[in-house]
Amino acid sequence: MRSVLVLPLLAGLAASIPSPLQQPFGVQDEYQGDKVNVSLYVMSRCPDARLCENVFEGVIQKEGILDKINLDVGYIGKLNASAPLGVTCKHGTLECIGNAQQLCLYNHLPVDKAYAIVQCQNYPSDFPGSIGYLDSVKKCAKTVGVDWDQSGVGKCIERIKHNSTTTGDVEEELKRLGKEAKKLLRKNIKETYDRNVTTSCTIDISSTIRSGGRRRCVVDSGVWRGCDDGHTAQDFIRVIEEEYRNLQSKKDE
Ligand SMILES: *[C@@H]1O[C@H](CO)[C@@H](O)[C@H](O)[C@H]1NC(C)=O
Ligand SMILES: *[C@@H]1O[C@H](CO)[C@@H](O)[C@H](O)[C@H]1NC(C)=O
Ligand SMILES: *[C@@H]1O[C@H](CO)[C@@H](O)[C@H](O)[C@H]1NC(C)=O
Ligand SMILES: *[C@@H]1O[C@H](CO)[C@@H](O)[C@H](O)[C@H]1NC(C)=O
Repeated sequence: MRSVLVLPLLAGLAASIPSPLQQPFGVQDEYQGDKVNVSLYVMSRCPDARLCENVFEGVIQKEGILDKINLDVGYIGKLNASAPLGVTCKHGTLECIGNAQQLCLYNHLPVDKAYAIVQCQNYPSDFPGSIGYLDSVKKCAKTVGVDWDQSGVGKCIERIKHNSTTTGDVEEELKRLGKEAKKLLRKNIKETYDRNVTTSCTIDISSTIRSGGRRRCVVDSGVWRGCDDGHTAQDFIRVIEEEYRNLQSKKDE
């Protein structure tokens, strides 16, 4: 899932860039071997994804952790040539649009900013409420302080500049969605599908310690399953630190 591979800005790189906020994850061919691969598999209008993203926020916010992981976010759905976006999403077309918008965030912003916007969308008690509507993501980008145009997010999400607010019409929202967003959506959903991941939310942490090469934790209908190492933010941080140390010690051999 290279397209959503999230490269936290390296200290040196950040120093050479006037405004780190405006930098996409970019530089994706950089050597990533010494970081822990972490994958979140979600759906934008899924309550389990909301729960899981909420817990994982504690990991994202942990100081220094973004330098130790490659985070990718995979959206769950099915390729479907007769669907308007070429994919079918469990919670409908609006969810497909929401997924596509969030992929634009992850592809054009540093991970903490992208994540903060997603969390802003997840926050309201009427969740999934307006997720998928252009207004929702636009408002949250503003809340987080991301420049819609300069960041590249706007061009990715919004096909042409719109002035009208949410109409509640999914057809209208479909027309608003940008070309890049659609492309990212199909690619990402295919990649998730090819990995046989079907449950939102699934958290995979790659492992060089455990057999099977990964540690998986799933939330399904509000219940955590298979989380042998625990499922709090502290547990995920501990596992990541452990895997990271192991990777560094291998590198030094
Ligand atoms: C992380 O994922 C990349 C790309 O899939 C892979 O090449 C690399 O070996 C993985 N690293 C670890 C430590 O698992
Ligand atoms: C594919 O999309 C069409 C049009 O949205 C829909 O009617 C159909 O049920 C979808 N097929 C599957 C397998 O989801
Ligand atoms: C945008 O919408 C506002 C409020 O509806 C309206 O006053 C303004 O003229 C519109 N601008 C354009 C460029 O359509
Ligand atoms: C997904 O499942 C198919 C069919 O069971 C299998 O052939 C394939 O190797 C699996 N892919 C992954 C990445 O596990």
